[in-house]
Amino acid sequence: MASRSGTVIADASAPLELKENTVIVVLGASGDLAKKKTYPALFGLYRNQFLPKDIRIVGYARTKMDQEEYLRRVRSYIKTPTPEIEQQLDEFCRLCTYVSGQYDKDESFLALTQHMEELEKGRPETHRLFYMALPPSVFAVVSQHLKRCCYPTKGICRVIVEKPFGKDLASSRELQASLAPDWKEDELYRIDHYLGKEMVKNLLILRFGNSFMGATWHRHHIDNVQITFKEPFGTEGRGGYFDEFGIIRDVMQNHLLQVLTLLAMERPVSFSAEDIRDEKVRVLRAMAPIEPKDVIIGQYGRSLDGTKPSYKEDDTVPKDSRCPTFCALVAYVKNERWDGVPFIMKAGKALNEQKTEIRIQFKDVTSGIFKDIPRNELVIRIQPNESVYLKMNSKLPGLSMQTVVTELDLTYRRRFSDLKIPEAYESLILDGLKGDHSNFVRDDELDASWRIFTPLLHYLDDNKDITPMEYPYGSRGPAVLDDFTASYGYRFFDASGYQWPTTSAAPIPNKL
Ligand code: BG6
Repeated sequence: MASRSGTVIADASAPLELKENTVIVVLGASGDLAKKKTYPALFGLYRNQFLPKDIRIVGYARTKMDQEEYLRRVRSYIKTPTPEIEQQLDEFCRLCTYVSGQYDKDESFLALTQHMEELEKGRPETHRLFYMALPPSVFAVVSQHLKRCCYPTKGICRVIVEKPFGKDLASSRELQASLAPDWKEDELYRIDHYLGKEMVKNLLILRFGNSFMGATWHRHHIDNVQITFKEPFGTEGRGGYFDEFGIIRDVMQNHLLQVLTLLAMERPVSFSAEDIRDEKVRVLRAMAPIEPKDVIIGQYGRSLDGTKPSYKEDDTVPKDSRCPTFCALVAYVKNERWDGVPFIMKAGKALNEQKTEIRIQFKDVTSGIFKDIPRNELVIRIQPNESVYLKMNSKLPGLSMQTVVTELDLTYRRRFSDLKIPEAYESLILDGLKGDHSNFVRDDELDASWRIFTPLLHYLDDNKDITPMEYPYGSRGPAVLDDFTASYGYRFFDASGYQWPTTSAAPIPNKL
């Protein structure tokens, strides 16, 4: 395939096929996740002709509503900037139907089956994909009913499950044990939507498809790694859920740890799901549990100008909450490649900007001819504005021998200006339809990841005298943050005055 972006010379994806005769059931169809993510992703796939032609989409939830109201909700989060897209949305809506029912009643699920059978009439086989966009309290009961009442007699059955997968190792195992009798591991698709993000999916290609990266990807050359997640908004009405989980469970134990494993894993034997996940699990098993001495936690207060509320001013949050909305912590991978390299993970809500990125700081160059030359840094920007840039020292053009920090820059918007970057959920739902598990979380992976975080989480839950440091809404986080990262070896070269020239992100106009 050739495009303005270049010719595709190798395709690392698994050759799996989409199943025709499939019904997708979105359980929790009236909820936020379904409206904001699942349906827009399904529509994105439909619009780009990635769904099998005969696909049918059934919404299922407790809310009693008619087809008209259901479609109004489906449409509410889908943008239709052109009449063509508006027309495609009309066509998409014709594939969607709704069944209202309880989450714990056989008769409700039997009614769902009856509805599916109507849609499946005349089909030689019946494949069913159940997407559980549900609160964890009903995962187990819904899963049992699906197995008992809705399992297809001739066809494939798959279940996509959304996080949270428990709150610690014990509850995750409990949840796992409640799903295990009904579903084989290869029928279960545990979503961590970070694994569907374009740049996260690129990590394996960047690392293993470029020999110069492979050559430097080692404790001999890398001094420290930072994985940063920043959001510029607070909980804003979602405090009920968030307060029970906190930033460590919400973002770090899953999304950021997944990124870490892809950064740290060894070369897989192949791109098959099991080969990739085997290597990821090996990394997790080589990690020691996070120690409280390697952690700082924060909670946002009011913004300095007083316009934004503190976390505790959110009505859905208890007034004495100790829940961290910010955390920076350091993890170590104790193997030959990474021993001693700190992986600094930082995540926070109500910060100064929106950004998820990986920053790999290389070791100092040999001293002697240079006094204090900045370190190289490889920055992989996951979002927004996907990019990869390498901060590199160069001679400042001119008659002196002054050095300057420059960059080798791959900014997607410039380099791939004619390609659309799919939403994470589009990519993952498509994988689910194809039966590709590579970007879903395996049971042993989940177990190993909780093992790393559980002692810390219990320590923070149990020690009531530990309170998070307050930081202003809209700031960079707690004041001690820079000292914290510096104490693990990260060097910020203030004097270089370097700023990544984000203006280069603007598309380059075609030269005629
Ligand atoms: C979710 C968390 O899993 O990820 C949210 O529950 C967070 O708190 C979200 O906002 C971030 O996802 P994204 O794709 O917007 O970076």
